[in-house]
Amino acid sequence: MNHNQTAKKQGRSTVAIHAGYDTDPHTGSLATPIYQTSTFVFPSVEAGARRFAGEESGYIYSRIGNPTVQVLEEKMAALEKAEAGLAFGSGMAAVSAVLMALVKTGDHILGTQGLYGCTYGLLNLLKQRFQVEYDLCDMTDEAAIREHLLPTTKVIYIETPINPTMKLVDLGMVAKVAKEVGACVVVDNTFMSPYLQRPIEHGCDIVIHSATKYVGGHGDVIAGIAVGPKTVMDEIRMTTQKDIGGILAPFDAYLLIRGLKTLGVRMDRHCENGQKVAEFLHRHPKIAAVYYPGLPSFPQYELASRQMDGYGGIISFELKGGLESGIRMMNSVQLCKRAVSLGDVDSLIQHPASMTHAVIPAEERRKMDITDGLIRLSVGIEDVEDIIDDLDMALSYA
Ligand SMILES: Cc1ncc(COP(=O)(O)O)c(C=O)c1O
Repeated sequence: MNHNQTAKKQGRSTVAIHAGYDTDPHTGSLATPIYQTSTFVFPSVEAGARRFAGEESGYIYSRIGNPTVQVLEEKMAALEKAEAGLAFGSGMAAVSAVLMALVKTGDHILGTQGLYGCTYGLLNLLKQRFQVEYDLCDMTDEAAIREHLLPTTKVIYIETPINPTMKLVDLGMVAKVAKEVGACVVVDNTFMSPYLQRPIEHGCDIVIHSATKYVGGHGDVIAGIAVGPKTVMDEIRMTTQKDIGGILAPFDAYLLIRGLKTLGVRMDRHCENGQKVAEFLHRHPKIAAVYYPGLPSFPQYELASRQMDGYGGIISFELKGGLESGIRMMNSVQLCKRAVSLGDVDSLIQHPASMTHAVIPAEERRKMDITDGLIRLSVGIEDVEDIIDDLDMALSYA
């Protein structure tokens, strides 16, 4: 695929639409063609051997690279200001391929206190099966990070905002500490999308997305992305991606490329709606607490304003009536859908303690401040008055 050489100088929405693909030279196709092929024909035996030896560029087999998937990888790398990208069959395939490429038995991973449930599950699997040690710490506190670093710490793994508590981590601060000890900083940027936050600009090394969320945006594909230095991405492509095989299908890559074309307008609307819904919940007499980085009462409002280009569409909140009221409320919504996942054009509401974070033992959840009454709302891009009316109606049953 042709490379859009000017992408770095362009705005975020232009990059999302144009990076990684110029008009198809064979047909003039404006839309990215779906190369639905498992394998590629070599012009000669010698050329095939050179491709396998890495001496000649060219496609080999779609588990190692595919032209449609490559457009997505280049687009995401351009958006995140990274050298290279890789696409995977799910966000968890991306997380596991990256972590398993970076650590070996005896190494240590330091993660944020508060992680997506399956990422927490993966850390436990790596510990139990492969003796990769891990600790979680409060990364809002630089001293706590320094206290938990070990000589064997190879990776500092961050979510910010943390799912689902919305606490933020100062990316620049963590990158600085990591440089001092030679650790690699991996950031799960799913909640923000590259439109609102680019961790590599703050000195972090590798960025991961569950592209299932804002990147796709329409709730119709499961996918993952990792971007970072070319040497590291090349290594992952030829090891944990190729040999474990969690790759993305060309059609799914096409859906994500299509989704990215509207990333800017979608994210602007998610932010606008998120702010209004958070303000509504904040004022509501039945609500005990609202966690949304765009509220001036949010403890890390200043960091949010400095680090992020918008406050996003995810809100967590608790009702004064606790879990029982929350369940009544969630069972009463009609427009908002009771479903896990986030970042879709549809508003989605879920209960982390019994759903996305149920795999984390109750005691650990408490340390992460994931209370049993916490509700997570992913504000969609419907007319915001309709979302607020639905929540207002549901709260009257709480
Ligand atoms: C923050 C975060 N990271 C990673 C994942 C995993 O992504 P996927 O479901 O695409 O495997 C999720 C899924 O909800 C998530 O919320």
